[in-house]
Amino acid sequence: MSSIDRRTFIANSTLLALAAYAGRAGAQDAPRSSFAAGATAEEVTAGTDLSGKTIVVTGCNSGIGLETMRVLALRGAHVIGTARTLERGQEACASVKGKATPVVLELSDFDSVVACANAIRAMSTPIDALVCNAGLLLTDLQQARGLELQFVVNHLGHFILVNRLRERVVAAPQGRVIVVGSVAHQFVPPGGIQFDNLSGKGWERQAYGHSKLANGLFSLELSKRLAGTRATSNSLHPGVVATNIMRNMSRGGGGGFGGMETPAQGAATSCYLASSPALARVTGQYFADCNPAEQSAYQKDPAMAAKLWQVSTELTRAYLI
Ligand SMILES: NC(=O)c1ccc[n+]([C@@H]2O[C@H](COP(=O)([O-])OP(=O)(O)OC[C@H]3O[C@@H](n4cnc5c(N)ncnc54)[C@H](OP(=O)(O)O)[C@@H]3O)[C@@H](O)[C@H]2O)c1
Repeated sequence: MSSIDRRTFIANSTLLALAAYAGRAGAQDAPRSSFAAGATAEEVTAGTDLSGKTIVVTGCNSGIGLETMRVLALRGAHVIGTARTLERGQEACASVKGKATPVVLELSDFDSVVACANAIRAMSTPIDALVCNAGLLLTDLQQARGLELQFVVNHLGHFILVNRLRERVVAAPQGRVIVVGSVAHQFVPPGGIQFDNLSGKGWERQAYGHSKLANGLFSLELSKRLAGTRATSNSLHPGVVATNIMRNMSRGGGGGFGGMETPAQGAATSCYLASSPALARVTGQYFADCNPAEQSAYQKDPAMAAKLWQVSTELTRAYLI
C-alpha cells in the first residue's frame, strides 16, 4: 500500500469508527419510531402490506440494496431493481421471494441512466418509492467527465434518474424518494460542496463524504421542489454495515472493523422510509436507525442545496427531460 493509500485508509477507518457512534442522537420535525438501533428491515416492516406498490431500488445486487429489495418484495411490493449488468440484476431478482424486475443502470454513464429511466417509464406505472441506494467508496482519485467519480456516481447519476422519474413518483398516491446518504457527509473539504473545483484534486480524501453531502443536499432541495404534491423526499444513514463497499479499503477486501451491522440491519431505515404510513407527510428530513438524526450545518444549508441543484442541472442538462 502506498503512503497516500495508507493515509486514505486511515482517514476512512477513522471515519467508519466515528460513524459507528454518530447519527444516533438528536431530533427534528419527524416522528420518533419505536424501533431500537439494530432493528432489522424485516422487523421494521412487520405487518406492512405493500401489495400493489411499485418500488425502485438502485444497486439491488449487493449489500444494503439487495436486502432492501428482498424485504420490500417480501412485503408484497413489485420491486424494480437496478444493477450494472443484466446478469447481476437477474440473479439478484431471482433470489428474492415476490416480484422483482431487473433493469440495467450504470450511474457513471449518463446514457445508461437515461435508458434505465426510459425502461422504467415504459412499465407505465406510478412509482410509490424510489430508493437511491447504489454507491461506491473510493480511496484514490478517479474521475469521469473531468469530475470526481463518487460525485458523478453517487450524486449526478441519481440526480438524472430521479428527475427523469419524478413525474411517476408524483403520480403515485404518496410517492417517496429515499436517498441513501451517510454520516460521512460530515467529512468534507472546508466549505462543503466544491463548486469551483469538482475535479476532486486537492480533496480526494474527503471525496466520499463530499458525494454523500451531495446526496443529503439533493434530497433537501428535492423536498422543496415537491412542495404542493403528495410526494416526499428524505435521506438517511444506514449504519456502518459490512458490505462490498469496503472492498476498495484494503487489499484484503475490507473487513476488520469491529461492531459493524449486518445488511439485515443496514436496510432497516431505507425500508422504513419507503413504507411506513407514519411518514406520509414527512419530507426534507435525515434519518438514522429509523429516527431523525443529527446532521451537519452544511447538509441543512438551503442555499448550498439550491446551488447544488443548479450546478447539477448545468452538468447534466443534455440528459434531463
Ligand atoms: N456499508 C456502509 O457502512 C455504508 C455506510 C453509509 C452509507 N452507505 C451507503 O449505502 C449504499 C449501499 O452501499 P452498500 O454498503 O450496500 O455497498 P455495496 O454492497 O458495494 O453495494 C453498492 C451497490 O451500488 C452499485 N454500484 C456501485 N457503483 C455503481 C455504478 N457506477 N453504477 C450503478 N451502480 C453502482 C453496486 O453495483 P456492483 O455490485 O456492480 O458494484 C452495488 O449494487 C451506498 O450509497 C453507500 O454509500 C453504506
